Amino acid sequence: MATPGSGFWSFGSEEGSGEAENPGTAKAWCQAAQKFTGGIGTKLCALLYGDGEKPTEAGAKEDLDSAEKTPACTCTNKPCSCQKADINYAFLHSTDLLPACNGEITTLSFLQDVMDILLQYVVKSFDRSTKVIDFHYPNELLQEHNWELADRPQTLEEILLNCRTTLKYAIRTGHPRYFNQLSTGLDMVGLAADWLTSTANTNIGKMIPSDLERRIIEAKQKGFVPFLVSATAGTTVYGAFDPLLAIADICKKYKIWMHVDAAWGGGLLMSRKHKWKLNGVERANSVTWNPHKMMGVPLQCSALLVREEGLMQSCNQMHASYLFQQDKHYDLSYDTGDKALQCGRHVDVFKLWLMWRAKGTTGFEAQIDKCLELAEYLYNKIKNREGYEMVFDGKPQHTNVCFWYVPPSLRSMEDNEERMNRLLKVAPVIKARMMEYGTTMVSYQPLGDKVNFFRMVISNPAATHQDIDFLIEEIERLGQDL
Ligand SMILES: Cc1ncc(COP(=O)(O)O)c(C=O)c1O
Repeated sequence: MATPGSGFWSFGSEEGSGEAENPGTAKAWCQAAQKFTGGIGTKLCALLYGDGEKPTEAGAKEDLDSAEKTPACTCTNKPCSCQKADINYAFLHSTDLLPACNGEITTLSFLQDVMDILLQYVVKSFDRSTKVIDFHYPNELLQEHNWELADRPQTLEEILLNCRTTLKYAIRTGHPRYFNQLSTGLDMVGLAADWLTSTANTNIGKMIPSDLERRIIEAKQKGFVPFLVSATAGTTVYGAFDPLLAIADICKKYKIWMHVDAAWGGGLLMSRKHKWKLNGVERANSVTWNPHKMMGVPLQCSALLVREEGLMQSCNQMHASYLFQQDKHYDLSYDTGDKALQCGRHVDVFKLWLMWRAKGTTGFEAQIDKCLELAEYLYNKIKNREGYEMVFDGKPQHTNVCFWYVPPSLRSMEDNEERMNRLLKVAPVIKARMMEYGTTMVSYQPLGDKVNFFRMVISNPAATHQDIDFLIEEIERLGQDL
């Protein structure tokens, strides 16, 4: 097992059967992350602030208590409208921002500073006397600055610096002299709408290996050619993890492509406690992973990772010389456009990179462990509580807790069709009432022969034990008369 400070978590853990030397998950994911973008370190601080003003080392900053970090605010109404406090970001981390306790001032101040950076950039973008691009060769940027994603979090000062630096080297796509058919121009209302949607962030049975093998053999006997097995690490409704190691063995035996849909479960790789649930993912040919789910990256941010180097290029490249010229003056390996299905796209990975810089791997780990712990808390609280029935036996593997709330009027009824017909209406009515009151919201759905049940999924970093208690009380308050 890796220790914090030795880089991204090594695969395999005390709880699972991970292969320590496997060149798979940890390395592959780490490489993927590194390729997304990088970090900006002390050299860049020196460049932008001058050597004398470099922030002190993170370790020296951590002894300050929160009162020293953030000046006290005496306003009674929060968020308050007091003057922007004199906050020293060199002593602050993303954990000091909301939903942190008393995080309002720091959050307002931080977001105002981000806004200032963005507004200055917007205004400058339209100034013809400024450069369209402050061009530096990609390898120069890589050599001169530290782009690493570390286990430890960066300070908010460094995060703001990352924002400034990114904009400093980015193409000013709104500049009147930037001519491109895909991403040119900067519409103010469109920008406002983009900020708005990002701010609102409007966003889980298992595979039986013996059954899989039987079906492959049957298909082959009928003359079909099975070529892909799509396993799931964290199913949408139940949050179940397919047995990836056994599936990998079968895929290898029959030479079948192994894909793992880790859209929902991939985030658990950040946790040394829970990553064993994905053991075997390192043997997949391809993996999908949505940081916009469990990791809380604002919508949208999805990754497709493929094992074979060069595969995306060979499948998707169109050699469209009118788009991807081969005689540019910089290293063309940085032109990734020809590898992808899409041509024009949003730089979704920047959100993940900046969040990773700010939280460090340990921060993401804590966030994910907390969600799993809250799900266990909910499960323990309702599994033997009067009026609740669990949809599947045993402790949930992910944060999906699936249950029926059975109102008092149904509790003594025989388990027959009439009871089923009444039970299926319970969750929709409670959900509708939740929405009308606006107090809380939780998903429900039927699955197979199981009538409507609640599916609680916890990926919201702001949720606490009190919020789980509230949910239970609210379900009972809104459903007791049904
Ligand atoms: C296991 C799994 N795969 C894929 C998806 C699709 O996710 P998206 O549309 O956000 O990419 C979901 C959505 O919930 C999911 O749970």
